[in-house]
Amino acid sequence: MIIAVDGPAASGKGTIAKALARHYHLPHLDTGLLYRAVAATVMRLELDPTSEADAVAACDFDELTLADPVLRDDETGQVASIVSAHPLVRAALMQRQKRFAHQDGGAVLDGRDIGTVIAPDAQAKLFVRATPTIRAQRRHTELKSRGSDVSYDQVLADIRARDERDSSRSTAPLVPAADAVLLDTSFLSIEAAVAKAVALVEVRREA
Ligand code: DC
Repeated sequence: MIIAVDGPAASGKGTIAKALARHYHLPHLDTGLLYRAVAATVMRLELDPTSEADAVAACDFDELTLADPVLRDDETGQVASIVSAHPLVRAALMQRQKRFAHQDGGAVLDGRDIGTVIAPDAQAKLFVRATPTIRAQRRHTELKSRGSDVSYDQVLADIRARDERDSSRSTAPLVPAADAVLLDTSFLSIEAAVAKAVALVEVRREA
């Protein structure tokens, strides 16, 4: 079974995808990490993220980059959102994601275009969302716990900017697949959101 979990930044999609992978004993891929690795490589090499050629050159990143804590930084997320808008960057990372999704036994992937582009054939597609202010609160708390002194207002502005860029790009924008089920986590605890996600996947599994 392929489970596609899409949604905007800090919606809870990563937590839900990991929990689903544990529940169904499936391998999990956080596809945002691939775009973040491209972004981190662009930044390290002092390339220009708005240049498609520069961003494509960074797609051949060192695999060790995937474990670099810098990938979790907010700035890396912003640059990831910029490089991910280039069609050739998306093309360069596509086969790797499709292979992961279609491995024997199935997989759980989370990202922005899993249900629409990477695995349109996924049996279960969740589109996880939450209000921008609630997502900003979550991200702000997370960043503060990691020692960052970024303000809430800055985090909210970054989230809004990223939503706008991810949703308005012409290639594989952030939109729910026609057959995705919406899961709003705004007022749900992690446990309640995961329980709801499992229940939604069960409905698809039995269909
Ligand atoms: O999920 P994340 O915050 O780690 O993703 C970082 C950026 O990468 C996000 O702003 C847009 C891009 N991304 C994408 O375009 N497609 C994906 N499947 C995953 C992430």
